[in-house]
Amino acid sequence: MKKLKNEPLKSLVQRDIAHIWHPCTQMKMHENYPPFEIERANGSYLYLPNGQKVIDGISSWWCKSLGHSHPSIRKAVKKQMRKYEHVIAAGTTQKTLVKLSEKLCSLSPSLTRVFYSDGGSSAVEIAVKMALRYYSLSGKPEKKLLAAFENGYHGETALALSLGDCRLYSAPYSSLLADTIKISPLPYLNRVSAIEWEKMPGDKWNEIEKKINPSAAKLAAIVFEPILQGAGGMKIYSMDFLRRLRKWADKNDVLLIADEIMTGFHRTGPVFACNHAGIVPDLVCLSKGLTAGWGAMSAVLTGDKIYSAFYDDSIEKAFLHSSTYAGNALCASAALEALNIYEKEGIEEKVKNTGPLLLSLMDEISADSNALANVRGIGCVVAADIVNPQTGKSFPPERQTGFMFYQRAFRNGALLRNLGDTIYFIPPLNAAKKTLSKLAKIAKKTLLEAI
Ligand SMILES: Cc1ncc(COP(=O)(O)O)c(C=O)c1O
Repeated sequence: MKKLKNEPLKSLVQRDIAHIWHPCTQMKMHENYPPFEIERANGSYLYLPNGQKVIDGISSWWCKSLGHSHPSIRKAVKKQMRKYEHVIAAGTTQKTLVKLSEKLCSLSPSLTRVFYSDGGSSAVEIAVKMALRYYSLSGKPEKKLLAAFENGYHGETALALSLGDCRLYSAPYSSLLADTIKISPLPYLNRVSAIEWEKMPGDKWNEIEKKINPSAAKLAAIVFEPILQGAGGMKIYSMDFLRRLRKWADKNDVLLIADEIMTGFHRTGPVFACNHAGIVPDLVCLSKGLTAGWGAMSAVLTGDKIYSAFYDDSIEKAFLHSSTYAGNALCASAALEALNIYEKEGIEEKVKNTGPLLLSLMDEISADSNALANVRGIGCVVAADIVNPQTGKSFPPERQTGFMFYQRAFRNGALLRNLGDTIYFIPPLNAAKKTLSKLAKIAKKTLLEAI
């Protein structure tokens, strides 16, 4: 648009607010709390136009698992850019995508097939569609029901919202949502040193079994975030529960769909969170850490049992889900390099050291402020709930303590976006120890200001 004479120059933030409808945001809030302007990002840091450095304490919604601008991923993407950026994936192939698929399938011997798409929610929808169609193709059309866990989160598309259990996001769209069974009460715990980690309370399992047994014959699949639930409140549950669920699912011919979109690629330690329990799901959804946050790519891994049900002369039996950017070449080059780096840089070992450090840092903040409850952690994830130090109870929601913490933390030098009054650290898996100590110092100072 042509600038009129004497028209004042608008700031970037004003131009943003004039047009951009931001995700997961009440836009009116930007009247008082405008979006933060980021100029560039490197490693664990975001750089603002005034030169200030801000630690990305949540890996930009948990996807920048290797930090920003990792030099070898940049090199791999640049190399691919010289060849081509995207070609239709239906009916074509290319070396990087084949190598990536071989590598993904090497992570678990019984997961032999990869279906690509462009985001986490679509991966969840794909896995569910595969499960439902698998049963109709296998002569069990009555298997149509779906179950998921209390407090789960699987994305924002209609089916993903139906499986999730975050009312704030799903309630306004109830007319669109499918009925799903919600599995509860989950055997939550705060640390893997708890006795229940290895052995969940029997009465809780009995209660769960009682809930799912009557639907077993009609149940097609159970969708769940393994071990750690993210957007539902950073909650950890017993690995024994997944073991029991795997046995129950085998006995009742029900498929398990692990949504490893947040937990995959070492966020909780091992490459997949299901590995804590030594179980292999029937379908696995991956995204975020798959490209280390370099591009919109997701993948569903499954095995020959499901794949072969679709394998036929008839097009009608094929899995006809299409995403324009499936198998995108730039994303594939980033993902292949990210997978190499997880190995080359010994990320699993790193997490073994960083995890306990992060937990002890959050414990210290809790002891010094008296304003945190339920300090919990697994792998490179720690979380806690802000409480009133005088009463030990939660603050009233209208006080927006968590949100104020987030706003102040940014100004103090750390991006620590809240989940209600839950605060958490999900830094890049390769963040330096001194960066983590700095992150904790900023969090403590901010918490003392916010309570
Ligand atoms: C466990 C889980 N599943 C699904 C999603 C949805 O992924 P996307 O935002 O890429 O659609 C997320 C996103 O945070 C997630 O954490």
